[in-house]
Amino acid sequence: MASRICDMLGIEFPIFAFSHCRDVVAAVSKAGGIGVLGALAFTPEQLEIELKWIDDNIESKPYGVDVVMPMSYAGSVETELEKMIPEGHKAFGRGILEQYDVPELPEDEPPPMALLGWSRENAQPQVDIALAHPIKLLVNALGVPPKEVIDQAHAQDVLVAALIGKPEQAVRQVEAGTDIIVAQGYEAGGHTGAITTMVLVPEVVDAVAPVPVLAAGGIGSGRQMAAAMALGADGVWTGSIWLTVTESDTSDIVKDKLLKGSSSDTVRSRSMTGKPARMLRTPWTEAWDGPDSPGPLPMPLQYMLNAEAQSRVQRNSNVEGSGGQQLVGSPVGQIMGRMSSIRRTRDVIQEMVTEYIEATERISELLRE
Ligand SMILES: Cc1cc2nc3c(=O)[nH]c(=O)nc-3n(C[C@H](O)[C@H](O)[C@H](O)COP(=O)(O)O)c2cc1C
Repeated sequence: MASRICDMLGIEFPIFAFSHCRDVVAAVSKAGGIGVLGALAFTPEQLEIELKWIDDNIESKPYGVDVVMPMSYAGSVETELEKMIPEGHKAFGRGILEQYDVPELPEDEPPPMALLGWSRENAQPQVDIALAHPIKLLVNALGVPPKEVIDQAHAQDVLVAALIGKPEQAVRQVEAGTDIIVAQGYEAGGHTGAITTMVLVPEVVDAVAPVPVLAAGGIGSGRQMAAAMALGADGVWTGSIWLTVTESDTSDIVKDKLLKGSSSDTVRSRSMTGKPARMLRTPWTEAWDGPDSPGPLPMPLQYMLNAEAQSRVQRNSNVEGSGGQQLVGSPVGQIMGRMSSIRRTRDVIQEMVTEYIEATERISELLRE
């Protein structure tokens, strides 16, 4: 497919797939798109294992890694941050779990990684490990990547991309040396701004031209891909639709919720990390966003507060009929309404490409008429 982004990365279709699951990353790249592994939840040791697996299974196709280096957050050292979490907030979180009879974690269970990769200190080892593998793309989720990281990537011929939600953020990225902009709209799963994809993409394309822009948020079909290209994008960046593919490691209970959910069943909430993120609406999000809530804390305090609760919920969600099953959720975008069956990754890509061709032919036909 002719798109300069395909030439830049050596891919067949301009379809980018964000996933935390290595099997999905490899399957997308082998199907002609490009998989990008979300590194956030992995320790450096685990990330090394995941990337080695990808190298061994991706048949030398291009892939990328996504890290999260926020420009700013409330503080630096984890122990100092812990002290900043008010008792009232901790008690509120514990209260929800008690209401749903979610058991404590077993004593021998190691504490969850509270800060994840959400700091420069934790993200840098992930960058170093990623760049020690044959990746083609390094992506930053929240804010402008530090100059040293951009230089480090460029020195190895790795392109740098970044997610943004406003045109002015895109301009700052380009000034810092970012090669590809991912313009992610309000309907997207995960952290997201308040401008819709339809409005954001052409604004960003015009603001950063000739820098290539990928459209993200609400894209799950060939018709949506054609719309994104019509808005001036060079390709599409997708996330939610990969949660329910055959290769995805999403748990059965969450897959079931995603398959049954409609486009109205997501909420943009600060309850997970402290920054607005779109996710499944659950009793957990309802409680934090409800009238009795003390209100979510700023990032990363809210995530630190939630980390243990989420481990307890995940563990309990394996038990049929449990409170954990009611509380468990996932980041997901409004495209959830179209995620109604489990499909193989390569079928999703093929269907998207076929529908994209049909949609563009239909529009060309209108001109002839
Ligand atoms: C489960 C999930 C987790 C996500 N985590 C991250 C992340 O760690 N880093 C990131 O850059 N984007 C993350 N995102 C956002 C995706 O990269 C992508 O921009 C978004 O899913 C696109 O919108 P869509 O969900 O409508 O396809 C996540 C999205 C989902 C659904």
